[in-house]
Amino acid sequence: MNSSIIITTGIRSSNQLEERALELSQEIHLPYYQRKKYSLQALREMTGAAAILMVSPKRLSLVIDDQELFFHPGLAKLRIKEIQAGKTDQMIKAMDLQEGNSLLDCTLGLAADALVASYVVGPRGTIVGLEDAKPVAEIVSRGLCTYTGEKPELINAMRRIKVMNEHHLQYLCKLPSNAFDVVYFDPMFRVPKTKSSSMAPLRFFANSNPLSNEAIVEAVRVARKKVVMKESRESQEFQRLNFHKVQGGRYSPVAYGVIQKDVF
Ligand SMILES: C[S@@+](CC[C@H](N)C(=O)[O-])C[C@H]1O[C@@H](n2cnc3c(N)ncnc32)[C@H](O)[C@@H]1O
Repeated sequence: MNSSIIITTGIRSSNQLEERALELSQEIHLPYYQRKKYSLQALREMTGAAAILMVSPKRLSLVIDDQELFFHPGLAKLRIKEIQAGKTDQMIKAMDLQEGNSLLDCTLGLAADALVASYVVGPRGTIVGLEDAKPVAEIVSRGLCTYTGEKPELINAMRRIKVMNEHHLQYLCKLPSNAFDVVYFDPMFRVPKTKSSSMAPLRFFANSNPLSNEAIVEAVRVARKKVVMKESRESQEFQRLNFHKVQGGRYSPVAYGVIQKDVF
């Protein structure tokens, strides 16, 4: 897939931005094209690229057709506000996540769940997020490091998340037993929940393979307390992967499968 991605800058470019884009292209081994005055569409046609990684002054984003994917705290911010107002967050409840805990998020994506978890575990906690798709890992890790303009507690929660561009099975196999309190999976839904075109860039880049039983076995070894998986409520994945306990909001389309470590 990499051959169909190129790197360029936003239309209002500068020498500094071009240098940053060039550096990134060397770092992640994707071809760099000078933006000049070309439209993204023209660049796509000239290069045959399906997708563009665009370096702008404020952010790094992935563009496919007319959709742009970039890191923003949107949904996580709302969820954190609700937690602050004393409401229950179903993911946090399923994880039984506490201040000071450690969480391994095996499917980081755009880090909304990791950000909520980071807020909850606080500065004494640890959040490591694994993302297999290099372009996604890149926009998210840069976004988490550089995003500004929010309250300090949200910014600090972003900065504490450690992003690694790793396949979770390989990473889990390297870890000692009981290395994290909670190990979490939120794979791409087997059946996408929405046809929303704004999710198209993530679907294009994401690893959409089903979770393996081997990954769950490793996760159970690595988790001290729980392994949690988010899936659509009716999903057969809970059964296939031995999540016998499934919980979540009564009217929510998603649910959380839980494997409680101490029953093993
Ligand atoms: C549904 S998204 C996760 C969304 C995330 N929970 C959030 O709140 O933004 C799933 C992500 O997991 C990544 N992924 C899938 N399989 C993976 C694997 N084996 N290792 C690491 N990341 C993986 C995909 O590339 C995708 O970005």
